[in-house]
Amino acid sequence: MEHISDADFLDIINIVKLQYGYDFTGYVQASLKRRVLRFMGRTNILTLFDLKHQLVNNSDLFTQLVQYITVNVTEMFRDPPFYRTLREDVLPKLAAYPNIKIWHAGCATGEEVYSMAILLQETGLLNRTKLYASDLNPMNLERAAAGILPLDNMKDYTYNYIQSGGLADFSNYYTARYDNVIIKKELRTQINFFQHNLVTDTVFNEFQLICCRNVFIYFNRDLQSHVLNLFYDSLSPRGYLALGIKESMRIADVHGKFETVNGPHKIYRRKV
Ligand SMILES: C[S@@+](CC[C@H](N)C(=O)[O-])C[C@H]1O[C@@H](n2cnc3c(N)ncnc32)[C@H](O)[C@@H]1O
Repeated sequence: MEHISDADFLDIINIVKLQYGYDFTGYVQASLKRRVLRFMGRTNILTLFDLKHQLVNNSDLFTQLVQYITVNVTEMFRDPPFYRTLREDVLPKLAAYPNIKIWHAGCATGEEVYSMAILLQETGLLNRTKLYASDLNPMNLERAAAGILPLDNMKDYTYNYIQSGGLADFSNYYTARYDNVIIKKELRTQINFFQHNLVTDTVFNEFQLICCRNVFIYFNRDLQSHVLNLFYDSLSPRGYLALGIKESMRIADVHGKFETVNGPHKIYRRKV
């Protein structure tokens, strides 16, 4: 099969919404359709009729579909200059608060929030910071909370860490075990992992910094606007918002509520 009509696509979205409560209506259609088609290829589902039938009757298939269509690619110290800016410009400002709350929305398997924990430890802020890390996908959260990462990735992550201005021995932050590493306990205990869907869930706390990187690119303009308003309402006055390097705040109704702190690294600040 090479194509999904808009009507079939809508049927699939509606089944998922009614049956499981996940709303993918506001995701960029072209890329979502491509992923659904690839998923059908991988799972040997030959017709859309069969896909719809199985989605209604087989929750395991739905779990596999979510795992496939939510893009889970991540890495530690991804886009190292972004972390350098956090280290040099943003965290020193947050240091003025007696207690700091940071939310990583769309944290995938945890690499981003563990990078933040390392930065906070190196800047002396970790013990007065609470980190909240959320994702739509429970399988990602389970892996993230375990703090176990493939040993093979550590070479690239060490390089990223050094590029981001890190001066310590990166291997101090994990213990190697066979083919994996486990992130040190003192970094893990400050992080609260939990499920939160940016489409349907609401404000749950007030933060000095929200990171939502490489999630927006999958959302259409209306959904981006909805989520930016959710972040505005979740930030303390003058709180920071970081988006991914390929993302930006072009949405008219929220643009005026934020000022740009660092354009290339997509760091913004709530105005009041
Ligand atoms: C490409 S990963 C980005 C991970 C990390 N922020 C980074 O930049 O490395 C995108 C993540 O967004 C999550 N996601 C997608 N839609 C979401 C939603 N509606 N609410 C919360 N998380 C969502 C996916 O499950 C996935 O883990």
